[in-house]
Amino acid sequence: MGIVTIELGPRSYSVHVGEGLLDEAGRICRAARLTGRAAVVSDRKVDDLYGGRVSNALAKEGIKVSNHLVDPGELSKSFEVAASLCEDFARHGVDRHSFVLALGGGVVGDLAGFAAAVYYRGVPVVQVPTTIMAQVDSSVGGKTGINLSAGKNLVGAFHQPVAVIADTTTLGTLGRREWNEGFAEVIKYGVIREKALLSDLQSGTFDLPELVRRCVEIKASFVQEDERETTGTRALLNFGHTIGHAIEAVAGYGSLLHGEAVALGMVAAAQVSAKRAGLPKEELEELVRAIRRFDLPTELPDRLSRSQILERIFSDKKFVNGKIRFVVTPGLGNALLADNVTMDDLEFGLSALDPSPR
Ligand SMILES: NC(=O)c1ccc[n+]([C@@H]2O[C@H](COP(=O)([O-])OP(=O)(O)OC[C@H]3O[C@@H](n4cnc5c(N)ncnc54)[C@H](O)[C@@H]3O)[C@@H](O)[C@H]2O)c1
Ligand SMILES: [Zn+2]
Repeated sequence: MGIVTIELGPRSYSVHVGEGLLDEAGRICRAARLTGRAAVVSDRKVDDLYGGRVSNALAKEGIKVSNHLVDPGELSKSFEVAASLCEDFARHGVDRHSFVLALGGGVVGDLAGFAAAVYYRGVPVVQVPTTIMAQVDSSVGGKTGINLSAGKNLVGAFHQPVAVIADTTTLGTLGRREWNEGFAEVIKYGVIREKALLSDLQSGTFDLPELVRRCVEIKASFVQEDERETTGTRALLNFGHTIGHAIEAVAGYGSLLHGEAVALGMVAAAQVSAKRAGLPKEELEELVRAIRRFDLPTELPDRLSRSQILERIFSDKKFVNGKIRFVVTPGLGNALLADNVTMDDLEFGLSALDPSPR
């Protein structure tokens, strides 16, 4: 078992990574000095699998539990669902001394984290991520939020958890698509910080708890340096996401999984990097191989309009004199914010996603 500490002064917390930790949830909540009742938020699928174990673990420590369920899927990251969740908290007597426990993937974590940030002007949240995506990325760092039809995560709050409990045995029940999807963010960490991750993924020689821990450490280093994404350091975590988010939204939320859209965004961003930042061709190919190894897409379905994707980026991002700040990699293992990327460059990156003729 491993513990990674996220050092954020008074908002510091531990990320527990290991096998069988669900049964320790009550003890870990107590150790995080939580005393009130728990509002456990989950989606129906994850609740069926793990809700009972978590409730038992909390009850064992004398913690009172209420359960709050949402439908699985990205569409639950909405104002409507956040509002009904808060109403449900109130009906069940969740109060300012209570805490929220988010049990599920990134959708549940972002949604429940957001509800916790605003309910009673903020109650503590414990993140219990059950997907690779959530364990390596979304549960750590305090970004919470919901989507608008105008774009992903456009409404949200910074709300650091008081503890994160990543039980890697829960990953065993993921569907193939959900399993693969999470590796998009692992690959992202390889690109922006630790090239060796890519070779370990390629050779398949990794131990899952160890891999999650390495990713959490990388995420921690960015978050600790730039908690609220003001200096540009944390923005490097968005490699592949400018184009990825636009693709995800144009496809319609839930149609492409987040990691699938990010995989496409990373291929396009790598093309931009080759053009603007000198990313060597062999390294671009290495990235594409890593993405394909997890059956993640590298070609954009024909039905998605390129011009709509570009328009969305244009309306989302600030262009100054026709240029945006865009995360590029000059070489795998390194990333930087370029401020000379043009709409033409993005179009060039996107065109590399055109299906090859067969
Ligand atoms: N806040 C952040 O910093 C951050 C970072 C990365 C991603 N995200 C967000 O995370 C979301 C994607 O998260 P996700 O990929 O985990 O999606 P998700 O939460 O929708 O989970 C994917 C599917 O897997 C199911 N599932 C979850 N755990 C399971 C398990 N252990 N066994 C079987 N099935 C399980 C869920 O019910 C769901 O159907 C996106 O909304 C994205 O924007 C946020
Ligand atoms: Zn992401």
